[in-house]
Amino acid sequence: MEVIDGNRIAADLIAELKAEVARIPGRRPCLALVRVGDDPASVSYVRKKGLTAAEIGIESRNLLPPVSITQAELESLVDGLNADPAVDGILVQSPLPAHLDERAVFARISPEKDVDGFHPVNVGKLAQEDASGFASCTPAGIMELLARSGVDLAGKHMVVIGRSLIVGKPLALLALQKRPGANATVTVCHSRTAGLAALVRTADVVVAAIGRPEFVTADMVKPGAVVIDVGINRVADPAKKSGYRLVGDVAYAAVAPLASRITPVPGGVGPMTVAMLMKNTVKAFHLRKGG
Ligand code: GUN
Repeated sequence: MEVIDGNRIAADLIAELKAEVARIPGRRPCLALVRVGDDPASVSYVRKKGLTAAEIGIESRNLLPPVSITQAELESLVDGLNADPAVDGILVQSPLPAHLDERAVFARISPEKDVDGFHPVNVGKLAQEDASGFASCTPAGIMELLARSGVDLAGKHMVVIGRSLIVGKPLALLALQKRPGANATVTVCHSRTAGLAALVRTADVVVAAIGRPEFVTADMVKPGAVVIDVGINRVADPAKKSGYRLVGDVAYAAVAPLASRITPVPGGVGPMTVAMLMKNTVKAFHLRKGG
């Protein structure tokens, strides 16, 4: 069994981006980070995105509107960033507070600045295999992790557990694509899937993105499978100073001995999401500059 080191692979990618950005004359790429409210996980993710941008030489702007912001005010904030020629990428951290319509906000972001890949135009380009669009960062990070770990998906059965807009659906589309590194046969399972355990047992590559701590147990995994754990669940742990520990969607201790390769939590998929956001931001910069 080999543990896939997401921190190392993300660091390689970040070093490549840093070298690329250093060669850009003039203005640096710029990423606007919008966070509404103080959800603790969002605070930590957005901080990490800002720090990684700085490490690469990407400028970042933090916009922290109050939780009382209205839909119209948030959309007009996005309009301002769309119109700002110095901004290349816009990210609105999900989840938004319940009174806001997240899908409408994502759709308001200019597709050319939608480095999260949530705009309908970019989801459509992903489905059409049009590489000029932006793919959602977590699934793109998973594809990169697999490629850089020497896992060729061609002809393999990938079972994705979870059908979210952010992970499950775009990952299924990416893995299905007709290009080197992809060409998988994909099954997407979810909370209403009948016979889920038996389906997962047929997977060569299992991707757990359902948001339930330790959902994937050893009896659900075929020996030799590649296991990718997208879950980041905070579980109460009085022994920890923070009062919690992070647990994935996979029962790691029991599943790891069976797997040929597995991603840990933390240090697996998480760092790749941030690295791919930076990659998308540099791509947005180049596309907007016309090459
Ligand atoms: N929340 C969890 N993952 C993501 C992501 O990739 N982008 C944004 N904007 N919010 C998230």
